[in-house]
Amino acid sequence: MQANSRKVSSNQSHPHPRLTEVVRRHLTTTFRKPAAPHNLAAFSRLMERLDAAPLPLVLDSFCGTGHSTATLAQRHPGHLVVGIDKSSERLGKHPASSADNCMLLQADCEDIWQLLLQEGLTVDYHYLLYPNPWPKARHLQRRIHGHASFAWLLRLGGHIELRSNWQVYVEEFGLSTQLAGYRGRVARVPEGPGLTLFEQKYRNSGHELWAFTTNVCRDEVGIIG
Ligand SMILES: C[S@@+](CC[C@H](N)C(=O)[O-])C[C@H]1O[C@@H](n2cnc3c(N)ncnc32)[C@H](O)[C@@H]1O
Repeated sequence: MQANSRKVSSNQSHPHPRLTEVVRRHLTTTFRKPAAPHNLAAFSRLMERLDAAPLPLVLDSFCGTGHSTATLAQRHPGHLVVGIDKSSERLGKHPASSADNCMLLQADCEDIWQLLLQEGLTVDYHYLLYPNPWPKARHLQRRIHGHASFAWLLRLGGHIELRSNWQVYVEEFGLSTQLAGYRGRVARVPEGPGLTLFEQKYRNSGHELWAFTTNVCRDEVGIIG
């Protein structure tokens, strides 16, 4: 595993000055977007699986190779653990897993979140491990919490855990959930073997790793303050 990954370099050293304005706008307006055909097909596979064997859901959004999906399936034996990533190349590097409570979807996370909500489904745990940081300040709206689909993510509810090697990203995500009324906790990721390949690479390169965790009660997503 390589140990020469560069730390995130950004023209932002603090939460973005427009964070509150952007998140508030997304939380107070209704966002709808037609799901792309390949995402509808991936979602149908998920529905077939749930119809055959209904289980509560764990999402591993932006799962990359899905190494974390396999580990999380062992951690949550009474759940269906669903890894979602748009890259077939990354998903193709998934380790052979014996866990039968795990599945991978090649899809855009945002469309799958929206389709789950349209079906009236929610999740018990939602992992967001090392999403692309989009470190340039002008790319705020490409970050998970800066995108309109952030409202969908919150409405899916559950115990949310986001990890990143860029502390500002984790703090921004935490501030954004607080705007919706949910306090959480920012802390260092505990030492140990990497849950994902990116986590292991960053650890080997000596990066600080940060996590934000919160519990979102889905009926109460709104704005405080
Ligand atoms: C930095 S990698 C992290 C992968 C994995 N979680 C890990 O830690 O090893 C970010 C991943 O997000 C995926 N991705 C980016 N935007 C996406 C989207 N809108 N929907 C699904 N996957 C996406 C990329 O294909 C990539 O695999």
